[in-house]
Amino acid sequence: MEEAKNSNDLGHGELNQWSVVGKVEELKTKSCRKVFMKESCNLALFYVKAKNRFYLTNSACPHARGPLEQGDIEEAGDSYTVTCPLHYYSFDLETGESSTGLRLAVYKTEIRGGDLYALTPRPVSLKKLS
Ligand code: FES
Repeated sequence: MEEAKNSNDLGHGELNQWSVVGKVEELKTKSCRKVFMKESCNLALFYVKAKNRFYLTNSACPHARGPLEQGDIEEAGDSYTVTCPLHYYSFDLETGESSTGLRLAVYKTEIRGGDLYALTPRPVSLKKLS
């Protein structure tokens, strides 16, 4: 498995690792859902049907920890954004960038066979991990 270090490093020198999120066909049934990262922050998994593409981000908004998995997804030119339900800041799902200057942590995903994999500092799951 490929390992890489990026700006989503939790600050403990951990290398990112690929782990299975779930079955692609099942994950496509919801446009937003919460994903749990072991002993760390929760993530939000978005599925944009128009692009047939998944995006994985932190679930807590970088402004004041609003629940982004409850946000609205909107088309913005070539990309898509999620709008936080608390104060309506929008973040690009691909880059995490926002017009406010705040940046949302985003994570790579990849489909292998029928499974969706995520590249994160710690393993992820659809169920809470301790
Ligand atoms: S908490 Fe998300 S915009 Fe304020």
